[in-house]
Amino acid sequence: MRKKFKALRGMDDVMPKEAPVWHYIEERARAALDLYGFCEIRTPLLEDAGLFVRSVGKTTDIVQKQMYTFLDRKKRRISLRPEGTASCIRAYLEHNLDNKDSIEKLYYIGPMFRSERPQAGRKRQFYHIGVEAIGSYGPSLDADIILLLEHTLKKIGINSYVININSLGCSKDKAKIEKTIKRGLASYVNLLCRECKTRYKKNVFRVLDCKNTACKHAVRNLPDVLEQVCPDCRAHFDSVKEYLDRLDVTYKINPHLVRGLDYYTRTCFEVTHPALGSQDAIGAGGRYDNLVEDLGGSPKGAIGFALGIERLILALGEKALEYQTQAGPVIFFATLGEEAEKKALKIGNGLRKENISVEFAYIAKSLKAQLRLADKLGAKHAAILGDEELKKGTVILRDMKKSQQREIPLENLVEEVKKLC
Ligand code: HAM
Repeated sequence: MRKKFKALRGMDDVMPKEAPVWHYIEERARAALDLYGFCEIRTPLLEDAGLFVRSVGKTTDIVQKQMYTFLDRKKRRISLRPEGTASCIRAYLEHNLDNKDSIEKLYYIGPMFRSERPQAGRKRQFYHIGVEAIGSYGPSLDADIILLLEHTLKKIGINSYVININSLGCSKDKAKIEKTIKRGLASYVNLLCRECKTRYKKNVFRVLDCKNTACKHAVRNLPDVLEQVCPDCRAHFDSVKEYLDRLDVTYKINPHLVRGLDYYTRTCFEVTHPALGSQDAIGAGGRYDNLVEDLGGSPKGAIGFALGIERLILALGEKALEYQTQAGPVIFFATLGEEAEKKALKIGNGLRKENISVEFAYIAKSLKAQLRLADKLGAKHAAILGDEELKKGTVILRDMKKSQQREIPLENLVEEVKKLC
């Protein structure tokens, strides 16, 4: 027996039964993104590894442990993209979009890759619906982006989510806060989980959102990140909150909210949903006002977010099942004999030209078996064609639900079916 292959761990197939819910989510999201003036960008799955090292940060978990990086045939270090923001800014600069005065609003839908330990809602290949708005430092943009996030979730039909917000301050604030956290945790280092012991040295912010009980205990008495940001960043945050209040967005200030990617500054946010277990973030984002400059452009304020499609499906719960059924064909051709099959293929394709969906059995089966298949596929009508009908120039049109049938001239089939649609 030849070896049968399996998909790699954490990399799932989306099977035809599940695809309709993906289409539904993507269509709803695109409709919301359209209303907010976002245009689609499709960037490659592979990029220079250095792009992510410089933007996401070389000490982050993503770069240190999760990125799929390898040398190509010419010994260049390339990575499967772990996220979409860095690629968008790379493309934004490469195509000189920064020369314009206006704000650039980009969105993308596609797979990301992170070699994490797979579990429910945590995959090694997962899909983002991501948005990036580049070109403004103003708080109104932060509010509009959070509003778009909420609008997208509502359009998809997801409720009961919680929008957590915080401010990480500017780069100077972040450096200062990092020192404060290190100082505050110095006497607890030995009590931290194994990962946080490393984080303490390399990326101390992440200790704040560790789920481990000992780590939670250790950070309990640390001063809030928000309390330590400079007056300008505080004013920006207050303004974002005022906008959100005026826009009736319900949010929760989470002063321990930090992000796992280094490029964030000022406003950051994360949307959680109770239907998810430990991986409860269905989406997250924030400002990254230094990234355009860090990647070689002139300074530009920017903000964005990404929603994880697998987690949106989990959040939809039972409702996802409603969208998992694909409509059956309008006509299923049940044919008996080679001649009838040839004729059916010709007429069937005539129906398809009229935008009427048609299915065939393709395999010689009894009439009973073909009608059973038509039923299974959810066909609305069956067109039955055998030698008898061919001789008479007729076809039997059967209503699958009512189990009623009538014989009509074959040449009238297209018109008759059009009347039924
Ligand atoms: P992120 O928080 O790393 O942000 O990912 C965003 C969302 O992707 C998460 O909230 C989660 O729903 C989903 N996600 C992340 N990792 C996995 C995984 N292993 N399996 C399944 N779903 C996952 C970013 O990537 C930023 N680029 C977002 C952003 C855009 N910030 C500004 N612009």
